[in-house]
Amino acid sequence: THAPITVTLTGAGGQIGYAALFRIAAGDLFGPDQPVSLRLLEIPQGMRAAEGAALELADCAFPTLAGVDITDDANVAFDGTNVALLIGSRPRTAGMERGDLLAANGAIFGPQGSAINAHADDDVRVVVVGNPANTNALIAQQHAPDVPAERFTALTRLDHNRAVGLLAAEAGAPVADIAGVTIWGNHSATQYPDLSHATVRGDAALAAVDPAWARGAYIERVAQRGAEIIEVRGGSSVASAANAAIEHTRDWVLGTGPRAAGRWTSAAIVSRGEYGVPEGLISSFPVTSSDGAWSIVDGLEIDEFSRERIDASVAELSAERDAVRELGLMP
Ligand code: NAI
Repeated sequence: THAPITVTLTGAGGQIGYAALFRIAAGDLFGPDQPVSLRLLEIPQGMRAAEGAALELADCAFPTLAGVDITDDANVAFDGTNVALLIGSRPRTAGMERGDLLAANGAIFGPQGSAINAHADDDVRVVVVGNPANTNALIAQQHAPDVPAERFTALTRLDHNRAVGLLAAEAGAPVADIAGVTIWGNHSATQYPDLSHATVRGDAALAAVDPAWARGAYIERVAQRGAEIIEVRGGSSVASAANAAIEHTRDWVLGTGPRAAGRWTSAAIVSRGEYGVPEGLISSFPVTSSDGAWSIVDGLEIDEFSRERIDASVAELSAERDAVRELGLMP
């Protein structure tokens, strides 16, 4: 039997935490033979909810669950951790200024980055879910100089999965027949779901669906899908977000596996200047994973329409980074 892998969830008493915990404890991250030990980090107001979830975890008697610890101390939560899912954040609320948003998140993700730097295992992998996810990941990374920069990522897998699902529906094809979809840029309304390299059953997606739809209503629908869920469900995307966080982490650690040409996923990872994205930004790219590391799919041709869309979203990331620097939230 394997030694347990330690997984820390922040915001574990919240909605996505509640949806993610049971699947992780059941073995959905690393399979049925790999025990996991859970660390739940909450703020004092969220501790009771996390404790309640832990009682239910005990009542599931999952054989893969090696233990659950609950704390409001980041130094304890990240001690020896292998995987950190940073879910708790201060998302934007109506009328909130960008400076206030970033300052509130700097106060969360700066100290968490420092605690990861000081206490996490050498192999730690960080997945930021809490919004604004890309910039929160950057703040945490900048506070963890001893951790390789590429270990800090942000979740755009939910956007990716939405983009795949909506394309499959439009094309009247099963999801398994879709490949080559990419989310570029920021996990925000400026994100660019790109179908220019996508295929449906091996044929160009832009031949299977109306290209005007692909470059118009589709982009809007993917970017606004979260709002659509709130409108229809009366609550935000929770189970799908937890699912995406699990898929991102699993693919990162276990690899995306042997795939047919054009099969990739999307994740926000640190740029080394690929596709004209300024170095150091944590931006969404087409990626595969092997040996525990993401690689950006290279050599894709970027047409003028895509260039403009990617540049616009990346400009937003640059502006967020500048604002974070001006606010003194980066060391
Ligand atoms: P929620 O409000 O139900 O839960 C958030 C939890 O985080 C609360 O229990 C709160 O007490 C806790 N928390 C706040 N500050 C914390 C800190 N410093 N340390 C530890 N815990 C802390 O929210 P929900 O629905 O679970 O969403 C969480 C985040 O995920 C939000 O920022 C949301 O915008 C984001 N999100 C991101 C998605 C993505 O694709 N990247 C998709 C959906 C949501």
